[in-house]
Amino acid sequence: MSIWRVQGGYPLDGSMTIQGAKNAVLPVLAASILTGSEIELTNVPRLRDVEASLNILRHLGCAAQRQDDVVSVEPRGLTGCRIPRELTGRMRSSVIFLGAILARCGQVRIAMPGGCELGPRPVDLHLAAMKALGAEVSLEDGEIVCRTDGLVGGTVELALPSVGATENAMIAACGAKGTTVITGAAREPEIVELQGFLRALGADMEGAGTSVVTVRGFAPEPRVGWRVMPDRIAAATMLCACATAGGDVELRGVDPEHVRSVTDVLEGMGAGIHTGSRRLRIRCAGRLRGGQTVVTRPYPGFPTDAQPLMMAASLRADGVTVFEENIFSDRYRQGLEMIRMGARIEISGRRAVVTGVERLHGAQVLAEDLRGGASLIVAGLGAEGETVVTDRGHVARGYEGLDRALAALGAHIDFTE
Ligand code: EPZ
Repeated sequence: MSIWRVQGGYPLDGSMTIQGAKNAVLPVLAASILTGSEIELTNVPRLRDVEASLNILRHLGCAAQRQDDVVSVEPRGLTGCRIPRELTGRMRSSVIFLGAILARCGQVRIAMPGGCELGPRPVDLHLAAMKALGAEVSLEDGEIVCRTDGLVGGTVELALPSVGATENAMIAACGAKGTTVITGAAREPEIVELQGFLRALGADMEGAGTSVVTVRGFAPEPRVGWRVMPDRIAAATMLCACATAGGDVELRGVDPEHVRSVTDVLEGMGAGIHTGSRRLRIRCAGRLRGGQTVVTRPYPGFPTDAQPLMMAASLRADGVTVFEENIFSDRYRQGLEMIRMGARIEISGRRAVVTGVERLHGAQVLAEDLRGGASLIVAGLGAEGETVVTDRGHVARGYEGLDRALAALGAHIDFTE
């Protein structure tokens, strides 16, 4: 059980480099087993989900090691095609290995990922994509089982722009004979990043970032080096932290375009935002304004992962901020904990209405998911007294040293594993 202790009332000042993106490196690590090519990744964040992925690679017979922010993968030795429950239980998004193992081995067994704190996490779109590429798909004893004598290119029509299903389809299509067209694809920057990595690996692919991705073929390169993109949700987290605590913070490395929907809301609340190439500066003095409506949507809409963080920033704004969560069915748990700090939040279904209060007070609160946990730490920055966040390891899944990053900017925060 980890404990975060936050003393509120200290503004944030300074500059920092944003960590590598969790949601970019996980599909890249999965795709790294597509061939026997040697892979070297740099700017890899130190996250529990990355360690869980490296353990899956090793379980499958690959060599995978980390030296500082460099991870090297030797997939030649891959022998396994099954990811058991004890490994998928540690990382719900391990379903991202489905397409890569199927393309490499012709079969794959992955324990059904359970739901998670955000609500049910179905994988029907992932399975439909594998079927569209010629695989037989079944559920046997709680495991997803896919088999093929050889994947065949085809049309993958995604009914929803699922990030993971788009990624699984792109990766599997690299192992398919002939051309694959993926329609209804997710357009997140992490999808564009995955296309870049797959191209470096030898894929003839285009369209990532639009809703139609085409994969024409794959001629593997013997070795590939790749630098992981900056984490736009970690950037959004630091922006909301400065909005909550006040201050003047510069973020280096991040592409301002990737967090445009978040900075638009913050500017509407009265924050000063200045952008440069691969850097962002936010200045907040005095009380923010309410009046914003935050509607989560697939990219380029407002990201669901930033909703809890923006909720934290809205708690003391002068006025009402309305949230509409359209991606996950249970993503307001942090709100119930924020109410214990004196926040005024009315939650009904997909809507949450925050009426800003002048003061919040520290409290003992519980982190129940990754971004919700981070949002409670951020809310503590703006509360009087000490906020103690109890966390079953959620925050470390997605943030590399969040306590050190905030303390370096002036926050009074203490973290114990
Ligand atoms: C990715 O999850 C991210 N995770 C999530 O970040 C992020 O919240 C989500 O995309 C949305 O942007 C990673 O990239 C590792 P989806 P993913 O498939 O791929 C429904 C974080 O905090 N759906 O785009 O699982 C699903 O229920 C995490 O870093 C189906 O119905 O998300 C949801 O309502 C949390 N059937 C919606 O689509 C499917 O087969 C979006 O899910 C798949 C998804």
